[in-house]
Amino acid sequence: MRELSGKVAVVTGAASGIGRALALRFAAEGMALMLADVDHGGLARTAALAGDAKVLTQITDVSDASAVRHLANRCFGELGTVHVLCNNAGVFQGGHMWTRAAEDFAWLLGVNVWGVLHGIHEFVPRMIEQDTEGHIVNTVSVAGLFATPGAGGYAVTKYAALAASLALAQDLAATGSKLRVSALCPGAVRTRIGDSDRTRPPSMVTDPTPDEVDSRESVSRAAEGGIEPSEVADLVVTAIHEERFLLLTDPKYAARLRLQTETLLTGHLPGIR
Ligand SMILES: NC(=O)c1ccc[n+]([C@@H]2O[C@H](COP(=O)([O-])OP(=O)(O)OC[C@H]3O[C@@H](n4cnc5c(N)ncnc54)[C@H](O)[C@@H]3O)[C@@H](O)[C@H]2O)c1
Repeated sequence: MRELSGKVAVVTGAASGIGRALALRFAAEGMALMLADVDHGGLARTAALAGDAKVLTQITDVSDASAVRHLANRCFGELGTVHVLCNNAGVFQGGHMWTRAAEDFAWLLGVNVWGVLHGIHEFVPRMIEQDTEGHIVNTVSVAGLFATPGAGGYAVTKYAALAASLALAQDLAATGSKLRVSALCPGAVRTRIGDSDRTRPPSMVTDPTPDEVDSRESVSRAAEGGIEPSEVADLVVTAIHEERFLLLTDPKYAARLRLQTETLLTGHLPGIR
């Protein structure tokens, strides 16, 4: 899609980090925005930063199907169309696979996988029906390409988000749709991802284990040294213009993916630290 000005973008997880940067970049492109998040104060701040852009905000827990349906109803009802859908909201939790409780997986799967699936289910049929160009951007992660030690639960959800993105893109292509898909797979980005627990519902909180604390600290350090969210937003806008599917924030991940595939094909475990 070459022209973004005058079109409509939806961004989930828009109260912070990558979602806020996407919102501000789309606003600068002249788009109208529907911004969703569970963080009321952060959403209001993003809206204030968006300047003169037309901005609607909606408190939305993306793991809740009825909340995402309400978001879509408001968006199509008040803005008429949707051209860019960013299923971006996500949370991190680490720890060894065997120390994670059902509540840990339920929280991660709810936000990182169901959030994407609900977004697809509620928005894509209406985007197909409106019969215009459009683009769906699912925020995955390099964790959707490489399962590293101590972050298995997160990798499970991000591999699923990548599969959902690939399957959606294949279905749209097979049916001759005008819609395109990107799977955004950033490495470390300077956001609050290491502090994801701030939005965790109390009913899903578990006692921290030492391996989980180590993992959280290491992700926070990595994020601190990561690229700026605005660089990710620039990459996304270029990908929408150029209709690119897989978005990597550094060429080193392409080399690593090649090496991982070759190693797997020998029957061995990739050493990817
Ligand atoms: N920061 C990184 O290094 C990095 C790397 C790869 C991928 N990602 C992915 O980028 C996406 C954005 O994360 P970020 O890095 O900007 O982190 P962030 O914590 O700064 O922002 C995440 C946003 O999601 C919101 N959120 C959490 N649970 C929600 C829910 N149930 N419903 C709606 N919104 C919810 C939070 O309130 C927050 O505003 C996530 O999908 C994350 O997995 C981040």
